[in-house]
Amino acid sequence: MCGIFGAASSSHVHKDLIEGLSKLEYRGYDSAGLTLISKSNKIKRLRCTGKVVALKKLLATNNLMGNCGIAHTRWATHGVPNLKNSHPHNYGGFSIVHNGIIENFEEIKTFLSKKSHKFSSDTDSEVIAHLLEYFSKKHSKLSDILLNTFKKLKGSFALGIVYEKDPDKIIVASNGSPLLIGMGKNANYISSDINALISKTKKYISLDDNEFGIITKDKIELFNVKGKRIKRSASVTKQNTNAISKNGYKHFMQKEIFEQKDIITRVIKDKLGTSKILPNIFGPKSDSMLKSIKHVHFVACGTSYNASLVAKYWIEEVSDIMCTAEIASEYRYRTINVPKDTLFVAISQSGETADTIYSLKKAKQSKYRSILSICNVAESTITRLSDYSYLMQAGPEVSVASTKAFTSQLIALLLLATTLSRASDSKLESKIINQIKSLPRILSKTFELEKKMQLIAKQFKNKNHTLFLGRGASYPIALEAALKLKEISYIHAEGYAAGELKHGPLALVDKNMPVVGLMPDNNLVTQVLSNLAEVKARQGLVYIFTNKKMKLKKNDKTNIISMPACGHYIAPLVYVIPMQLLSYYVAINKKTNIDQPRNLAKSVTVE
Ligand code: G6P
Repeated sequence: MCGIFGAASSSHVHKDLIEGLSKLEYRGYDSAGLTLISKSNKIKRLRCTGKVVALKKLLATNNLMGNCGIAHTRWATHGVPNLKNSHPHNYGGFSIVHNGIIENFEEIKTFLSKKSHKFSSDTDSEVIAHLLEYFSKKHSKLSDILLNTFKKLKGSFALGIVYEKDPDKIIVASNGSPLLIGMGKNANYISSDINALISKTKKYISLDDNEFGIITKDKIELFNVKGKRIKRSASVTKQNTNAISKNGYKHFMQKEIFEQKDIITRVIKDKLGTSKILPNIFGPKSDSMLKSIKHVHFVACGTSYNASLVAKYWIEEVSDIMCTAEIASEYRYRTINVPKDTLFVAISQSGETADTIYSLKKAKQSKYRSILSICNVAESTITRLSDYSYLMQAGPEVSVASTKAFTSQLIALLLLATTLSRASDSKLESKIINQIKSLPRILSKTFELEKKMQLIAKQFKNKNHTLFLGRGASYPIALEAALKLKEISYIHAEGYAAGELKHGPLALVDKNMPVVGLMPDNNLVTQVLSNLAEVKARQGLVYIFTNKKMKLKKNDKTNIISMPACGHYIAPLVYVIPMQLLSYYVAINKKTNIDQPRNLAKSVTVE
């Protein structure tokens, strides 16, 4: 999604701006642009549709330089992805880049149009530059211009602003959309994402909601909405620069799929003792807090939501705790009932997903016992807002389609379920831990299926639809499998609880429809098999992934893919691997943009 980068320095920053933008590319975007303050203190803007590399060429052709500048990658929300809608937006000596949505932009536009303002884009963002100009006519002090402008804006925003009359300054503001200020040597930077800062500096300050800042190459001043000065100490990120490379793999997604075994091995080392989970892995004093929990509400989006669905199956199976899992965009707007001693759990790889952040903020106003987050980014808004947090430490996930974050979330959630099981079954902990410890070995075997997945992928590449079926905790894995396939191969795919087949999707099954059954060896095998028989009877192409030793008759309509034997609790972590590989190789066959699928973004920072 949209990304912001900016720099104020004692030397030229044009290369820094391009480098910063290229580090934001993984988020997904459709146009890019930058503004530099020229030697003669004029704002000079360059914009292009498409990729940052095109902007880089444009920059070279125009030979533009300057010591202060802002840059942006845009993921279209208001207005199609074209040149006039690309950021920065300029007006009256101001140039702005914006992430988020200005909800009252129509109102502002109408107001300013009556005052003869002419707008040149269809975006909500452009009104910000116009408002700044409007207030600059009424006030001479920069802080007054800014305060009046910010007061008028409703919605979410992270802003980077430069102004011809204050040519060495970058102005930043934030409300509901992240913005970080990186502290360098003779230079300061702004970015909506830590990934774009770390090659410059590891020291940063994050802006909270309703705060703004004025930044020069050697000074950072922060203010609240009342214009009062704020003091904030800097943090230091532990993230390293090398983590964001393909390491010889063709795609980030491929690299991230194959990293999963090592990540799990690291979790085993860092979080587990011989037969017990190490104390307080969910934050200081989390064990005693978790003892008092009677209900759990999970809230998340996308793949993280699918992880929460698996957790619901686990928690209700191993404890007496009632559990709900809900999509954040639903949770944030509906009336919620919070029983006594309920734990709210936000799950988010990025920690910046707008709907999950708003849900968490709503939860903070409700009567939850505690707020826990499971996140992959230490510096993220969700981690900062939570009472307790578990950091997945999976390393940056760059591919839009989430893989290693999913399994890292699942491990965290299985550890949460296990911690919650202590009250009702003291023996379960060592059993689950043994299963988790067997995962690296089992995953090595599972990855041996790669060649098979390449072959099966060829059979999928010309299909228009696919069904994934599972029961119990394999049902959310079927949902995740369908999500992966549609995200990167653009094949319409649906995940279904196998028992629902007869209630609709069976009508779609014919000889052209591949149906994938996820069938770990458990008490649901008979039921899944009878569902798959219904598919076969309608000529559907059946693919059964199972570790059950069965003498199923293999024929041209039924493919049995033998999975390694694995414990009951860890099955979701094992069965998702061939699903990820399948999607990846179908997408390879279809030659799609695997790491940045069309229309999608890695970090969904608007609702
Ligand atoms: C986007 C990404 C998905 C991700 C979802 C939730 O849709 O493309 O991969 O699962 O957001 O993101 P989060 O960072 O909150 O887990």
